[in-house]
Amino acid sequence: MREQLEKEYPDYRDQIRSAFEAGQQHIFRWWDALSPFEKENLLRQVASIDFPFLHKLFHTYLQKPVSTFRGTLAPPYVISVPATPEERRSAERIYRIGESFLRRGEIAVLTVAGGDGTRLGGNGPKGTLHIAPISGKSIFQLHAEKICALQKRYGTVIPWYIMTSETNNKATQEFFASHDFFGLDPRHLCFFMQGMLPVLSLEGKLLMNSRSTIIKSPNGHGGSLIALKEKGILADMKRRGIRSLFYHQVDNVLIKIADPAFLGYHVSNAAEMSLKVVRKRQGGEKVGIVGYIDGRLQIVEYSELSQEDMEARDENGGLKYHAGNIAVHVMNIDFLEKVYQREDALPYHIARKKVPFLNEHGDLVLPEENNAIKYESFIFDILKHVEKATIVEALREDEFSPVKNMEGENSPETAKQDMINLFGRWLHNAGITIPVDARGNVIGLIEISPFFALDEEELRKKIPQTFQFDGLLHL
Ligand code: UTP
Repeated sequence: MREQLEKEYPDYRDQIRSAFEAGQQHIFRWWDALSPFEKENLLRQVASIDFPFLHKLFHTYLQKPVSTFRGTLAPPYVISVPATPEERRSAERIYRIGESFLRRGEIAVLTVAGGDGTRLGGNGPKGTLHIAPISGKSIFQLHAEKICALQKRYGTVIPWYIMTSETNNKATQEFFASHDFFGLDPRHLCFFMQGMLPVLSLEGKLLMNSRSTIIKSPNGHGGSLIALKEKGILADMKRRGIRSLFYHQVDNVLIKIADPAFLGYHVSNAAEMSLKVVRKRQGGEKVGIVGYIDGRLQIVEYSELSQEDMEARDENGGLKYHAGNIAVHVMNIDFLEKVYQREDALPYHIARKKVPFLNEHGDLVLPEENNAIKYESFIFDILKHVEKATIVEALREDEFSPVKNMEGENSPETAKQDMINLFGRWLHNAGITIPVDARGNVIGLIEISPFFALDEEELRKKIPQTFQFDGLLHL
């Protein structure tokens, strides 16, 4: 078989040999039935696979126990939400520092939007989801308008880098183009694709979902780090005079993009990387926490925490490990360059999933049990290389509402309500009566465009005190 293939496609001889040597020859089992186009297509996929690397990946990570956390855990110092008048005055100073940083044009935004969004049903890129409570604007549009409004407010340019994947790149770019880039100058908007890795069976074999298609999946949000370098994005940022990146995930509809307060803390503490966290609701909440393990800052995943650490209390009776990671970071370009020097920059994490595949008879199987391994790297793993980090607490209800599931928790429904509730609080704090139900949800619909007000302060300046809410407000 191998000889036949090599003879037929001599240009792919090395790649064919690698596949056979790696014991993956089953991918050619339908070779004779393929059209020339399908054959070429399959060989191109084979050529994109680093077989020795895949072999290493499978054998390294399969041996690893599910819980990898070992060592001594300690809570980090977290800058809490200002509560006293003095803390508020100090926070205001910090805010002005962040504003100066924005005015200098040294910050870019990096949105990771390469995920498959499987829990949501994978119907197109998550950012294209229509989510705004009244206008139905997409998540991408909301982000774009926040960036536009910030640019106007600070008379600056904030380049926006959006990471997509092979699966959703075309649809994402077409969506932006068909909406005229939501008013942004396309010269300052850059899409780049993250890498993909094959999905393996539990025995380490490549899986296929057609006779000529090898199943791959995006290599995790940590893939942004690799792609930034490989695709020349970092070089582009440096050419533009960018010093820091504001990083966030596409699916958080409450994200305060390039929040001056956060940037201010980052700059004034001369941090290499900063993180926003929210207080865990209860010990058992399934969220990764920020902690020191043997003196290095890390995110400890929920599954890695012992029951004792999960419920441990501090001297005030609150959770000792309360700093829940919401994947909102500022990272310095200098710091990223330092991380690139390291061979062990980012490890891979494995996830066992149910992935439909073709069996040896060519029938599509929809497995009921986990049958496949996906490999992903996580951006937060670079934390262990940080010498100076700042951790800032944010209020969950103000800044974190991700869209993950079709219904229930973290769904489009909760995201819409969270937006309405946020705008409701802004109005309430401006002295306007806003009715809420027993669960604290606003009764009625409110949407405030980032162009009208980016935050509570701006809204307060614009809305007349005499304004009366009648159940529907669209500004
Ligand atoms: P999630 O881990 O929630 O994955 O990603 P997801 O793809 O959105 O959804 P599921 O798990 O398949 O249901 C968190 C963020 O990281 C991005 C996602 O686009 C989302 O913004 N991400 C994730 C990437 O950019 N690339 C990846 O490989 C994985």
